[in-house]
Amino acid sequence: MSLVPGTVRPRRLRSTPALRRLVSEVRLHPSELILPMFVKEGLSEPLPLSGMPGVVQHTLDSLLEAAREAVAAGVGGLMLFGIPEHKDEIGSQADDPDGILNRALSLLARELGDDTVIMADLCLDEFTSHGHCGVLDQAGAVDNDATLDRYASMALAQARAGAEVVGLSGMMDGQVAYCREALDAAGFTDTVIMGYTAKYASAFYGPFREAVDSELKGDRKTYQQDPANGREALRELGLDLAEGADIVMVKPGLPYLDVLAEVAQESIVPVWTYQVSGEYAMIEFAAAAGAIDREKAIDESLIAFKRAGSDAILTYWATEVAQRLQSEAAGHLSTHTADGGR
Ligand code: PBG
Repeated sequence: MSLVPGTVRPRRLRSTPALRRLVSEVRLHPSELILPMFVKEGLSEPLPLSGMPGVVQHTLDSLLEAAREAVAAGVGGLMLFGIPEHKDEIGSQADDPDGILNRALSLLARELGDDTVIMADLCLDEFTSHGHCGVLDQAGAVDNDATLDRYASMALAQARAGAEVVGLSGMMDGQVAYCREALDAAGFTDTVIMGYTAKYASAFYGPFREAVDSELKGDRKTYQQDPANGREALRELGLDLAEGADIVMVKPGLPYLDVLAEVAQESIVPVWTYQVSGEYAMIEFAAAAGAIDREKAIDESLIAFKRAGSDAILTYWATEVAQRLQSEAAGHLSTHTADGGR
């Protein structure tokens, strides 16, 4: 068999590492990686999480140390989650200025606020005794409108503590507008609202539940989206934009790349992705079992988000990957080209 004359050869552009680098459509940069961190009240030592090898619940001291390391690696920001010692029905510790999350925000804002962006998860699930993202009504259902008052109070507490970005992850209707109004009324017109716009009721949050000592029994299906629904994400996007979200997010990441791509196409504000705990665990455990190459799998997963249109990514590997990108940029051997690739 002979080739047809004029055969088109896409392989031409894949033939050397330098050519591949030249034509690559997207690349990672440390500043688009955001590190989610957990800080727990009452710990004397950082506590490793069995479901997320390499991730810990921090003490205030270890939090600051890990935050400094992340900032030195050039990450774009830090997203804080707090775990209080005492949880109650309404999540009182969430908006208490002495609550662990707000104390941690103050500490990081004071120490690192000029060098990075300090962000706070704005949701009640880490703080409630029942583990839901909102307060419950008489019948035990999550009460949307009563929850908004709690969120507004949290937004103010977090802004006062020094959070520059509040991440509304509770999926209550009207949450962006309600928090925007409360922040503006108190003079926090510059506090950025990042809406978890399309957040799905996902099994991939499994390890996170350990990370925040979640008390949840049951599920979040009355407020988080059904994994079967893509269109709904665009409806949520329209609402979040109309309500004044500065940044929108799709979560989880890899199982929802189609949703991410659509949201990225429609959005007029930055679009972020959260590579969640279960996605992290899958790669870590598969790599530990020798089934996949850990670093290559991590990079491929992050590149997929960029290709789908994500502007930044929340990932538990933020520091590690940022450090690697930094040393590559400093002229060390690139992991992408180390094999020569011919
Ligand atoms: C809610 C929240 C969750 C995550 C981030 N914010 C848990 C949930 O909705 O059940 C999950 C993050 C992860 O799995 O890494 N505050």
